[in-house]
Amino acid sequence: MPDEIRLRDVTEADLPIFYEQQIDPEATQMADFPSRGREAFMAHWTRIMADEAVQLKAILFNGEVAGNIVCFEQLGEREVGYWLGKEYWGKGIATKALEDFLREIETRPLYAHVAKHNIGSRRVLEKCGFTIAGEDRFFSEIFGRNIEEYILTLDSQ
Ligand SMILES: CC(C)(COP(=O)(O)OP(=O)(O)OC[C@H]1O[C@@H](n2cnc3c(N)ncnc32)[C@H](O)[C@@H]1OP(=O)(O)O)[C@@H](O)C(=O)NCCC(=O)NCCS
Repeated sequence: MPDEIRLRDVTEADLPIFYEQQIDPEATQMADFPSRGREAFMAHWTRIMADEAVQLKAILFNGEVAGNIVCFEQLGEREVGYWLGKEYWGKGIATKALEDFLREIETRPLYAHVAKHNIGSRRVLEKCGFTIAGEDRFFSEIFGRNIEEYILTLDSQ
């Protein structure tokens, strides 16, 4: 049987899994995105799950919760983001999840911010039609260093 990758609505039971996936140090370095402590993480997800302006899906790989994919508004722009547990990397899951998710989102342009060193995430976005539209650089208090990002956009075809 081929592997099955699909999206479904997020439930509260997914949150402890997402929490463990986002505290992985290799993942936070890759994404240049700091992890949240358990309480802050649960408060954040409880808030975004109740927010109709945020679209959220759990990513399932052969029925297991492999990660999540989100679309939210940031400074007037609609942005996508995704995060997989490490054991699910390198199987084409993020690419398929983003392809499916994009069919559910009408807004264009869509934006994504990706750390310059995050080759995998940039590749996922480019395989789904995003192109580099700009760059950003800011100082992260949490990491104590500058973060360098590409800004990618997906325009209407
Ligand atoms: C980035 C991430 C989502 C990639 O997910 P994935 O399911 O492993 O990606 P895919 O398997 O769909 O790979 C897509 C492409 O990227 C490449 N790729 C994936 N990870 C890579 C890596 N670490 N280095 C180089 N290339 C990589 C794959 O080879 C593939 O390219 P190809 O089709 O030309 O062979 C996953 O590693 C992750 O969740 N990381 C931690 C959180 C994060 O970085 N989120 C994104 C923030 S912008």
